[in-house]
Amino acid sequence: MCGIVGFTSRNKSAVGPLVNGLRRLEYRGYDSAGVALESAEGIKVYKQTGKVAKLDNLLSRALPESERGKYTIGIAHTRWATHGLPTVANAHPHVADNGSLALVHNGIIENYAALRAGLEKRGVKFLSQTDTEVIAHLIAAFDKGDLLAAAAEALKRVEGTYGIAAISEKHPGEMVVARKGSPLVIGVGEDDIVVASDVSAIVAYTRQVIYLKDGDIARITPNGVDIHTLDNSPVTREVQEVDWDIGAIEKGGYEHFMIKEIFEQPDALANTIRGRLDPAGGTAFLSGLSLSPRDLAAVRRVVIVGCGTSLHAGMVGKYLFEKLADIPTDPEQAAEFRYSNPIVGPNDWVMALSQSGETADTLAAVRESIRKGALVSGLCNVVGSTIAREAGRGVYLHAGPEISVASTKAFTAQVTALLMMALKLGRTRRLSFEDGDRLVKEISRLPELVKKVLEGNEAIAKVAEKYAKADDMFFIGRGMLHPVALEGALKIKEVAYVHAEGYQAAELKHGPIALLSEKTPVVALLADIPGKEKTLGNVQECRARLAPVIGVVTEGDEAAAAAVTDALTIPKTCAELSPIVTVVALQLFAYHVARLRGCEIDQPRNLAKSVTVE
Ligand code: F6R
Repeated sequence: MCGIVGFTSRNKSAVGPLVNGLRRLEYRGYDSAGVALESAEGIKVYKQTGKVAKLDNLLSRALPESERGKYTIGIAHTRWATHGLPTVANAHPHVADNGSLALVHNGIIENYAALRAGLEKRGVKFLSQTDTEVIAHLIAAFDKGDLLAAAAEALKRVEGTYGIAAISEKHPGEMVVARKGSPLVIGVGEDDIVVASDVSAIVAYTRQVIYLKDGDIARITPNGVDIHTLDNSPVTREVQEVDWDIGAIEKGGYEHFMIKEIFEQPDALANTIRGRLDPAGGTAFLSGLSLSPRDLAAVRRVVIVGCGTSLHAGMVGKYLFEKLADIPTDPEQAAEFRYSNPIVGPNDWVMALSQSGETADTLAAVRESIRKGALVSGLCNVVGSTIAREAGRGVYLHAGPEISVASTKAFTAQVTALLMMALKLGRTRRLSFEDGDRLVKEISRLPELVKKVLEGNEAIAKVAEKYAKADDMFFIGRGMLHPVALEGALKIKEVAYVHAEGYQAAELKHGPIALLSEKTPVVALLADIPGKEKTLGNVQECRARLAPVIGVVTEGDEAAAAAVTDALTIPKTCAELSPIVTVVALQLFAYHVARLRGCEIDQPRNLAKSVTVE
């Protein structure tokens, strides 16, 4: 949520790198954007509502190329509004001290009202409705000649979460950055230093990065990075190498990131699986878990926490852990979990699922579980993310960067990782070698199976054409396909703005069926799992109310294909893998409906990726 970029160089203009960085981070929020640039003449701020392209236009008019060279340091921001409408005044950077200090912020300042009242009493004039502006005024007020010390004093008074970057005319050539609860990464190049809320804005310049920890504050000049705690003790953070390059975050010929990422799934899943299957033992290796068979045997309950798509993956996990490992498993929405005074302890294994590894509620659930002595693991995609680090042990998904706001490949990678964890846990209990062996073989086929679904892309696009005008849809599935129905409904809601609801297939007749008519398509998930025949009965109930039914059916299942109005075909596989092949067909369906409706697929309205506010 919100993207921050900072750039300083010995010899290059900061303007281009800041705007390019914002473009890379636009998926984090896109209702307004701004930059603050410093030269020997002082700080200039440019802000604009809407997307980064509008800011870029403004800069093209305001700053001819011939003038840009003098700005070798600057900060920039793309916003997802929390406090105050998306207006120019509320866009970042915010300024203080007559415009001599500029600041960008990601996160939420919870005590901003009290801080603002205090500052106003002392005569400070506020220009925006944001929570952020108080930080700028506080830093200016504490500045007695040392920008880092002033920012540290200000941040000690702030409650909430922040990633900030600030520059000041009084400290030319210097930038101060700090984080608590919102990510901040520093890229260290030969002549330039880039700061950003995630590495995707950095890899164009360097792959050498420093991940700041919560409570860190750093002074950055083109000559280097000087990191301290808020109490002014110097700390050292290692420079790490990012293991992917710029190609991974470009569209590579696809029209949208969403379709690119859907098509990346065979490779992404191959990476999730690589080196983790143990055919000789009919099990999985998950070395990041650092758990012995004895530790695993002591687990009495699994709790899976997450939000949105990650929560849906966790709900599939319940079926996998209960089926393969006989372990009671509770998927929990992370915010509900953290505020429920959860009953967890040493025999409970809490797994935090998060693509970004930064979701505020999931992170809070991790902290609460650690506090209560549970065994905690993170399943994250973003390497070095806060959840991955704080959970201490876990499994990286290795699905590659996910840029589209709607999550696709992270879901299939999460379910795959959970399946391997359930297999491992099952093999420490009653799951036989034969069953383990069968699963190991089927999981190895997963990339091929997903490729087969993707081969049906054009056929799925044709079906989408028939239904693209529908205003309402229902998705039904049972057992481990119920969470997939929820995920199918979520995808079409977020990218195509179609009102959609996911239900257990049997639940439809307990009320929602009242809404069915020839105008409400029902998407029925009919992969070969126990209960499919019953879902076919539910399909008949829908058709008897004239609702057209789009079935996701296994190739060769003629009875299912005949029962539905239109079929999306998936390859034959075992029940445990059916959520993955089914969801890929639903992702394609949602994508094509959105495309036909002319939606902004990669950046749907009101959304942002990486939800770092509660
Ligand atoms: C939906 C989507 C969101 C995220 C949710 C959790 O397509 O992307 O629902 O799944 O915000 O995000 P992570 O997985 O980063 O914790």
